[in-house]
Amino acid sequence: MSINNSMNKFSLFTFILILHHYYEIEVDAFQKWTYNDQKSWSDVSKECDDINQSPINIRYTDLIFNESLKIEFRNYNQPSANFRATNHGRSVQFDYIGNSILVPTITGSALNDEEFALEQFHFHWGIDPKIGSEHRINGHIYPIEVSMHLIHYNNKKYRSYNQALDARNGNVAVLAIFFNINKNDNDYNPGFDIISKKIQQLQTTHTNHSIDLQDQLILQLLLPNNTASFYRYHGSVTTPPCTSNVTWLIMDDPNEIEFNQYEKFLNVIDHKSGKKIGNNFRRLQEPNGRRIECSFLNNNAGGGSGDNHPHHKNSVNITMVIIFTLIIVDIVAFLTISKIYMFK
Ligand SMILES: *[C@@H]1O[C@H](CO)[C@@H](O)[C@H](O)[C@H]1NC(C)=O
Ligand SMILES: *[C@@H]1O[C@H](CO)[C@@H](O)[C@H](O)[C@H]1NC(C)=O
Ligand SMILES: *[C@@H]1O[C@H](CO)[C@@H](O)[C@H](O)[C@H]1NC(C)=O
Ligand SMILES: *[C@@H]1O[C@H](CO)[C@@H](O)[C@H](O)[C@H]1NC(C)=O
Repeated sequence: MSINNSMNKFSLFTFILILHHYYEIEVDAFQKWTYNDQKSWSDVSKECDDINQSPINIRYTDLIFNESLKIEFRNYNQPSANFRATNHGRSVQFDYIGNSILVPTITGSALNDEEFALEQFHFHWGIDPKIGSEHRINGHIYPIEVSMHLIHYNNKKYRSYNQALDARNGNVAVLAIFFNINKNDNDYNPGFDIISKKIQQLQTTHTNHSIDLQDQLILQLLLPNNTASFYRYHGSVTTPPCTSNVTWLIMDDPNEIEFNQYEKFLNVIDHKSGKKIGNNFRRLQEPNGRRIECSFLNNNAGGGSGDNHPHHKNSVNITMVIIFTLIIVDIVAFLTISKIYMFK
């Protein structure tokens, strides 16, 4: 009885092994990863196991205030229909397909005054609005995060985005913006309709089928009201091959969309699996002592307690140094009084 049982277990195990092996051969390496099994991403690309990966939780206590950090936006308020929307099975992506004169770019001291041109933007969202964003701000999760991938506009040194990414020399920057969902109809974000209508069209299209924009999109409408407050750190792209040396610029101020605009995301289907796309965020990566800068002194800070705010950081540090010094003084005083000196 027990022998039969273990024999059955053994053959089932063998069968699963063979099936698993068969599946591995069948599926092309860059296509097989899933958000459900992120531990296997390093089988697709070793770099996914490296330090300095993204996303991270941006803790207020880790921040370094750098008041010289600025971002300038160019052509972001220029209406443009030069975008191609694609449901690529894991997200919906909008690629810029226009010319290089009108391409939206960002520059400024945050990018060492180099120009970075928009390549594409795509969305990360939760099936439940309590989750969705990849990055967290002091533990806070937003329902949606849009990542705008930009490449250094280096006199067309790189023929493609992947080439720029592969060079691993800081030629790719990602601008991230969080979205909240507004349940109040008065605070409507009509500019986002152009995007949410495309997302609705992509719900039922086949994987990799693209639709060009007909209406003119003003990219500025994806930006939050306050673009002066942001975080900067060096990380990676958040999907395999997890290429590092990417400069992340993360807006602190979230933008907003209406609930019915958010709903369009919830019915986008991955045609390969027939399942709804969503919860398409990578789990948090270790900051590993990385430098995380902020361009602003944070007073509002939704959620955290006062001592976590960046502008309190210095005073906390000074207090700790004083306490530490006092303790040392006490120990020295104690040793002197006790006449216990260890000479070596
Ligand atoms: C602040 O950012 C600028 C621009 O990138 C950089 O040159 C400078 O070293 C940074 N300052 C500090 C204190 O980190
Ligand atoms: C690229 O990233 C690696 C790992 O984070 C780092 O050691 C290296 O200095 C970076 N190279 C450049 C050119 O930024
Ligand atoms: C979708 O496009 C990617 C990149 O061009 C390609 O690698 C992949 O095989 C395509 N997937 C399908 C299902 O056509
Ligand atoms: C942006 O500013 C406008 C005008 O002040 C305001 O109505 C809107 O609610 C703000 N949006 C967000 C997301 O805070």
